[in-house]
Amino acid sequence: MCGIYGFVSENTHQAGEILEGLKLLEYRGYDSWGVAVKIKKQIKVEKSIGKIGNDKIHLPQTNLGLGHTRWATHGGVTVKNAHPHLDCKKNIAVVHNGIIENYRELKKELSKKGHKFISETDTEVFAHLVEEFLKKEGFTTAVKDAFNKIRGLNAIVVMNSLSSEIIAAKTGSPLVVGVGNEEFFISSDSLGIAQHAKKALFLKDNEMVVLGKDIQLLSLPKGARLSPKFEEIEYIQSLEEKGKYQHFMLKEIMEQPAILENISQNYQVTIQDLGKKIKKAFGTYFVGAGTAYYACLAGAYLFSKIAKVHVNTEPASEFNYLEDFLTPKSLIIALSQSEETIDVIEPLQRAKKRNSKIIAITNVQGSTIYRLANEKILLGAGPEKAVASTKAYLAKLSILLMLAFSMKGQIKQAETLLIKGAKEIRRILSPKYLKKIQKIARFLKSKEHVFIIGRGVSYPSALEAALKIREVSYVHAEGIAGGELKHGPIALIEKGTPCIVFAPNDETYNAIMSNAMEIRARGGIIIGISFRDSEVFDHYLEVKDLKEATILVQIVTIQLLAYYLAVLKGYDPDRPRNLAKSVTVR
Ligand code: AGP
Repeated sequence: MCGIYGFVSENTHQAGEILEGLKLLEYRGYDSWGVAVKIKKQIKVEKSIGKIGNDKIHLPQTNLGLGHTRWATHGGVTVKNAHPHLDCKKNIAVVHNGIIENYRELKKELSKKGHKFISETDTEVFAHLVEEFLKKEGFTTAVKDAFNKIRGLNAIVVMNSLSSEIIAAKTGSPLVVGVGNEEFFISSDSLGIAQHAKKALFLKDNEMVVLGKDIQLLSLPKGARLSPKFEEIEYIQSLEEKGKYQHFMLKEIMEQPAILENISQNYQVTIQDLGKKIKKAFGTYFVGAGTAYYACLAGAYLFSKIAKVHVNTEPASEFNYLEDFLTPKSLIIALSQSEETIDVIEPLQRAKKRNSKIIAITNVQGSTIYRLANEKILLGAGPEKAVASTKAYLAKLSILLMLAFSMKGQIKQAETLLIKGAKEIRRILSPKYLKKIQKIARFLKSKEHVFIIGRGVSYPSALEAALKIREVSYVHAEGIAGGELKHGPIALIEKGTPCIVFAPNDETYNAIMSNAMEIRARGGIIIGISFRDSEVFDHYLEVKDLKEATILVQIVTIQLLAYYLAVLKGYDPDRPRNLAKSVTVR
């Protein structure tokens, strides 16, 4: 969470360029933004709360500057709490992603020494710490010593009005350095720098970099010199733009048929290889958070149904408490779109300590999870910029579906199903079908609660559908296993309560339709997502029977419903309140 962007250059740049860089990182947090530039021997700062939108910056041109877009952890969303944070003399400016876990004790110590704090953040402590160390040593050593004093998983970038260098260090969240022409850029993500740099250095944890006329890479805690290994990065402008779409969320939903086709055509070898590893393992565990966890859960059903193999899964944040049974023969398959989710990283680190094997299925190359894994599979879904995950979910489901079939020796069958799935999604994305979904969105606009039920492999679809509706439209939505209704939730159904029912043509059909009738008998309004219409349905969205691939298609109807509901209610579906695309704090 939080986006960091900065540069140090032989040439002057408009300060507005920092704001443009930050805009590309706003998916990481958009509570407030701030920019600091070095002008002669002074630091000038401008900050504002809310998304950047059309904000302009009034700072002068500079050859050294830093910016930050915040997802608040410590202290409310105020201008004072927005980064960059300064020391007492306003010589040091700091931007930060992570949590300084011992900031309270450090703040106490520094206050006793006379430092004055103006924000409620943990970050400000770092500026004062550097100020304190600078009393007795140079800038690089001061930052190193300050960084060694803080605890937690952090990425910090510092500038000093009396130096022509930017220094960055990290133990947690990502930082990437872009090498330009007589200049260096630093950012939380290569997206932020790819238009200026062809070569990049992805900082590893416990590394520190000093950027000025040249680049120095140092190891932490000691500061020994390391030789940087640069990687080529590519700038694909079209991926960063919404094109003809009003929002990234809609664009990304529309990209899904092509993603299914790509996976069906290009993943055979990788998937068959992974299948062999699962067969050899003594216990396979799927680990993911949020939407990725629901993909894990769907995977567990697909594995049971198709491959007749049991896999374990739990939400990643709970997996830390279930690590005791891991052995060197265990196989952990981590699913994460962003590669940065702390709730996924922590269990992987624990699994690594137990010598378990880790395979990452991710959408981003080169970040933390990618490096932790023994082997990696890329989703190939292209950058997902809307906070609500859509296409990455479908890519994960497609890979898991192919994997389950490949373990049964029937990968070709999965390929055919994915192609059929792509075709059916295209039908759902047609204007005529979209109108039906928009009509249901209008019906739901005034509703406060929605329940979504499914059974078997459609149960994860119900959970994911509820998450999509909640996160972008702020309607209270709950996904429930159909069989669980009578064990409590049915008490919430009253006249007019909307309930979405996933009723595919599989072994769950009769039971889920009985559940739908029970809801209707209590006045609930039923929105049926099924291969055939029924008198129980007040609203009906057809999803053709695609056997095991039906789950890939049925969720698209609700992705669209959530999207239209958000737009109808006047919300920005790409940047829902309180959320961020990369969840890098616990
Ligand atoms: C999905 O719509 C959410 N924004 C969220 O649940 C997300 O899937 C979760 O935070 C996991 O992210 P990851 O795939 O990047 O690890």
